[in-house]
Amino acid sequence: MRSASQNSGFCHSKMKMTVIYSVLFWFLLKASRCQLQCVKETFDETKFSINVTGHVNLESGSCHEISYTLTLPTNTVTAPYKMRWFKGDPANIVTTTEVDEVNSERQDSFRIYGLPQGEYEYGLKLEWGCNQTYIFPKRVHISVSALTRKPMVWVHPMVDGEGARVICRPERLCFGTADVQWKWTKADGTAKVIPGRYDGYPPFRMWNRNERYDGYPRFRMRNGNELWLTPTADDHNTNITCVAIYDYDAVETTVTLNVKFSPRILNSSQCTTDGELLVCMCISRGNPLAPITWPLVTLTDYSVSSFSSLQTVNSTITLPAADNHNTTIRCISSNELGQAVKDIPLQENLIPENVSGLNLNSKSNAVLPWIVVGVSLSLNLVLLTTLIVCTCKR
Ligand SMILES: *[C@@H]1O[C@H](CO)[C@@H](O)[C@H](O)[C@H]1NC(C)=O
Ligand SMILES: *[C@@H]1O[C@H](CO)[C@@H](O)[C@H](O)[C@H]1NC(C)=O
Ligand SMILES: *[C@@H]1O[C@H](CO)[C@@H](O)[C@H](O)[C@H]1NC(C)=O
Ligand SMILES: *[C@@H]1O[C@H](CO)[C@@H](O)[C@H](O)[C@H]1NC(C)=O
Ligand SMILES: *[C@@H]1O[C@H](CO)[C@@H](O)[C@H](O)[C@H]1NC(C)=O
Repeated sequence: MRSASQNSGFCHSKMKMTVIYSVLFWFLLKASRCQLQCVKETFDETKFSINVTGHVNLESGSCHEISYTLTLPTNTVTAPYKMRWFKGDPANIVTTTEVDEVNSERQDSFRIYGLPQGEYEYGLKLEWGCNQTYIFPKRVHISVSALTRKPMVWVHPMVDGEGARVICRPERLCFGTADVQWKWTKADGTAKVIPGRYDGYPPFRMWNRNERYDGYPRFRMRNGNELWLTPTADDHNTNITCVAIYDYDAVETTVTLNVKFSPRILNSSQCTTDGELLVCMCISRGNPLAPITWPLVTLTDYSVSSFSSLQTVNSTITLPAADNHNTTIRCISSNELGQAVKDIPLQENLIPENVSGLNLNSKSNAVLPWIVVGVSLSLNLVLLTTLIVCTCKR
């Protein structure tokens, strides 16, 4: 009884297996038939065409939309079909569009997103049915050149010792954001890089606040693209460069700082005597240029010459020494920020005891070498005579 029931159970499972095997066989048969259908059909390639631009020039980081029109043989291509743009090699697919309906003509476009500098080639491949493909022989050549859109830099007016801002705004490109880097170049060419970040949006963020950099003014950065600093006269004519670093390129803009400062009279200012003339030179530095005046000179018998280069004014006054040996020669240099006053010292080793005796002194100076020569000659003569007398006596 027990074995009979076991037997019938065995029979049942055997029948089940047979059904499964036959279903599997049917699927395999179906699959192999499909494989046979996948043999590439031959079709008239002249019925396919694409109307698209052959060459596009772009700058790195920019995007571009390329429109095109396809002509297809409706009796060859079956729906749904895929349009696949590839870059370089047909296996390197960049976009795929699936189309549900086959029309003899189709207008579409595809978009290029920010490419690095270089030359590129794009092509279109169609796929339909069971692995049927057609690759259009026409290619779109894309030349990507260096980025030319430089960042904008604004500099607020700068005054010695007062806070000012430098703002950099990199161009917004279609692809990628810019990191901002600041570079400072002193007049002697030494440069320092101040790293920063550009977020694109201004949620208030501060760092490097009041940080000191050796030899560079105090500054802090806000939001990466804003530099706050307190310049001094030494920073006048230094260069600040904003470098915008994108994914594929970097561009920069340099501004030269114009720092206004009140005049200073340099220590090299001095008076000297030249014969019967007193020559005083006053040199001052100021921005804007600070002209020099000689207020205490009341005489009419004088001449002033002045020249300037960059921020320096050099003024020379010439007057008769005899009338002025006891007056103080004072020069004043002033611009919109203030004035500097200096009593110019007479260069010490040239101070004459008595200005009228100056010519005498210079005469005696000229005579002195002759006296020396004369004395040494007579001494030699005496010695020689003595020698001769002595020799004769012997
Ligand atoms: C069809 O394409 C698929 C993948 O794209 C591939 O695995 C298959 O071998 C192809 N069949 C034939 C018959 O080309
Ligand atoms: C500063 O920038 C100007 C203009 O860009 C340039 O002519 C000059 O050589 C630069 N100076 C230095 C020290 O880099
Ligand atoms: C000029 O001279 C003054 C006083 O002698 C001195 O304090 C100052 O440092 C000097 N300045 C320069 C630039 O040499
Ligand atoms: C100022 O001018 C005088 C002559 O006019 C010249 O000898 C001197 O070198 C000049 N000094 C400066 C600093 O330019
Ligand atoms: C020159 O100056 C001194 C001291 O400042 C003064 O005693 C003297 O009288 C002055 N001499 C002349 C000729 O002005």
